[in-house]
Amino acid sequence: MKKVSIIGQGYVGLTISAFAGEFYDVVGFDNNQKTVDLLNQGISHIEGVEGSVLKKLIKAGSYRATTNPADINGSEIVVIAVPTPLTRERDPDLSFIDSACKTLGENLKNPALIINESTSFPGTVRDYIKPAIESYSNGEIKHLYAISPERVDPGRGDFNQKNTPRLYAGLTQEASAKTREFYSKFCDQLVEVSSPEVAEAAKLFENTFRQVNIALVNEFAQITNALGISVYETLDAANTKPYGFMKFTPGAGVGGHCIPVDPTYLAAVAEERGVPATFISRANAVNLEMSKYIVDRVETDNGGSLQGKSVLVVGVAYKPNVADVRETAAELVIEHLRKRGAVVAWHDDVVGIWQGEESSDLNGADIAIVITKHDVVDGTKIMKSAPYVFDTTGKLPQAHGL
Ligand SMILES: NC(=O)c1ccc[n+]([C@@H]2O[C@H](COP(=O)([O-])OP(=O)(O)OC[C@H]3O[C@@H](n4cnc5c(N)ncnc54)[C@H](O)[C@@H]3O)[C@@H](O)[C@H]2O)c1
Repeated sequence: MKKVSIIGQGYVGLTISAFAGEFYDVVGFDNNQKTVDLLNQGISHIEGVEGSVLKKLIKAGSYRATTNPADINGSEIVVIAVPTPLTRERDPDLSFIDSACKTLGENLKNPALIINESTSFPGTVRDYIKPAIESYSNGEIKHLYAISPERVDPGRGDFNQKNTPRLYAGLTQEASAKTREFYSKFCDQLVEVSSPEVAEAAKLFENTFRQVNIALVNEFAQITNALGISVYETLDAANTKPYGFMKFTPGAGVGGHCIPVDPTYLAAVAEERGVPATFISRANAVNLEMSKYIVDRVETDNGGSLQGKSVLVVGVAYKPNVADVRETAAELVIEHLRKRGAVVAWHDDVVGIWQGEESSDLNGADIAIVITKHDVVDGTKIMKSAPYVFDTTGKLPQAHGL
């Protein structure tokens, strides 16, 4: 079996490892020792990757996790799946990509196909990853380079690695052909585009499309509230149009590693080229302002002051049925509540521990604000947790809401 190394064993890297492990000899490289130790015991930290699958692969000898970069040597294919966050100044932060390139440059002693799955701006493979790896390896080895942006949606049941079409493009035809061969083992539909830049830009546009439409519906929810009509009924009504409309639903903001981050990667390259990405910055602002809007509504409904009131924030994961709290809107909501003197606790048994605090019981508050409703959380219990419940998810029709 071909040896494949996957750099980064998080949501993307571990998911790919689990699929690729059926066909390749997979080395999962991660610089987090705790993650690696758990993975080698067959314990998954990612929704959608079952421990039983890892155990089976480990037993068959086709998967092992490691923190030792020397284990990457001899790989015919390497997939980069490391974080691409924003800096404090909200600029693209390629430091994780850079450190992955350093690991590869210094340890991969044979020519290989290097595929980037991390989301980044157009030109990342050509102008950043290739030169970085070449410089860390003193230009000694000629690798092939490609991009195949990841579209995984953790926690989703209907679409996965197998049935989600995958975009790809190599820097050369040979790289494209080998990339196709690699993914075709575990992905039904592969879509080749003419350059890595098209694939990179397509990924950013997909998530920008979501970001802008979520912002639009968030603003629309404020308009329908001012009009005294239901945003959900209005959206359902609009959605009866069989073409030219796609329904998005309002919420407390956007979270996770993708929607709040990826559009800023697109805006950064746009602005560098003198094209102001106005939709992206406006959508960012609207989505961030939702937390204040929600707390304003709750305050108004509760006599104009939250001073001393106990508020339970229900669901702090950024979306249902996952434990991922990155960029969660719950954080901003809690910040606004505390600024106004509320005594805040949160409940989310899927997340368990967050920011050093444990999930509180689902009862006994003056006010409950639902940010995320996991399927395992009983709606009736939420309604009984406080005399006033504000639901931002649209799943609790008896509650106050958007
Ligand atoms: N999470 C998603 O749903 C999703 C979907 C599509 C695309 N993406 C993109 O995929 C990339 C990875 O995201 P993720 O959600 O898997 O991140 P993650 O935080 O879940 O996992 C990243 C892993 O990489 C490890 N890591 C960081 N630097 C490393 C290095 N230099 N060498 C080895 N390991 C390193 C971390 O320890 C972590 O385990 C990002 O670019 C993201 O935008 C994510």
